[in-house]
Amino acid sequence: MVSPKYHVFLCGGTKLTGDKKGICHSRGSEDVVRKLMEAIDERDLSGEVMVSATSCYGICDKGPIAVVYPDGVWYGNLDAEKIALIAEKHLEEGIPVREYTL
Ligand code: FES
Repeated sequence: MVSPKYHVFLCGGTKLTGDKKGICHSRGSEDVVRKLMEAIDERDLSGEVMVSATSCYGICDKGPIAVVYPDGVWYGNLDAEKIALIAEKHLEEGIPVREYTL
């Protein structure tokens, strides 16, 4: 079984029914996911970082949301620029980006 160093859970802005009506979706969560996947590829981290999309966490006003485990760090109000920095600092260097945490 694969044992990644980090597992990132990104809110895809979907309701539990699968409808894409959540706030994170309307605030660009798909762009955030796309940028994170790009950043992981660019940094050759695909063997160390797993990414999963989730449904709504119920804190939509802070979305888009990402949670990084095993650290248990919650990030909010994300955009493509912020997630790229999180990939560099947190996922590659192991240093959470505190200014974007909730
Ligand atoms: S839609 Fe992302 S937290 Fe609710």
